[in-house]
Amino acid sequence: MRIDVVSVLPELLRSPFEHSIMKRAQDKGLLEVVVHNLRDYGLGRHRQIDDYQFGGGAGMVMMCEPLANCLDDLKKERTYGEIIFLTPDGERYRQGIANQLSLQENLILICGHYKGIDERIREHYVTREISIGDYVLSGGELAAAVLVDSIGRLLPGVLGDEQSALTDSFQDDLLAPPVYTRPANFRGWEVPEILTSGNTPKIEEWRYEQAMQRTKDRRPDLLEEGEE
Ligand code: ADE
Repeated sequence: MRIDVVSVLPELLRSPFEHSIMKRAQDKGLLEVVVHNLRDYGLGRHRQIDDYQFGGGAGMVMMCEPLANCLDDLKKERTYGEIIFLTPDGERYRQGIANQLSLQENLILICGHYKGIDERIREHYVTREISIGDYVLSGGELAAAVLVDSIGRLLPGVLGDEQSALTDSFQDDLLAPPVYTRPANFRGWEVPEILTSGNTPKIEEWRYEQAMQRTKDRRPDLLEEGEE
């Protein structure tokens, strides 16, 4: 899978993909992340990418032309399954969307800044608008990093243990159950006995009950919504 990220601050996006699972995914050739500096498409001597908004008001707006030229260049090279704009007024990101997007061959992520991007780019290029939560970030880069990570780890072969993505919190609309490792007794704090019993069906049952209880206590909305 290839993910192209369009950003005015490409530096912000370097480190998140250079370590751990994202690095392994790229080293194995399963994921390619290409960050494009929108400034390279800026207009004039100052490589301008933003301008005052029509109608007045504080805050700059990212202009059509640099974005359109950048997106045209990318679209000339390959077909994109989705062109995603990261924005606080987009649909709320959740595991089901990560699952869907992980099936695409090519994605573009557009990171907004300032007051946002000219609405015409949203109308004519963007196919999906995503928010990672009900708060406002300074720009879309951290949100883009969240998408790349959550999508990348779902690609077949990226996680060593293929099962482990499936047992994450949210994969079945439940939070994950508690986990423990050695020692079985730490400062007198004991691991639940069932986990050391070797009785796999009982352990699975216990984990399910724990996941259900945790979800009821902490995120009852997940049980009600039945979201993807
Ligand atoms: N850009 C700024 N805030 C954002 C958010 N919450 N989600 C996605 N993109 C954003």
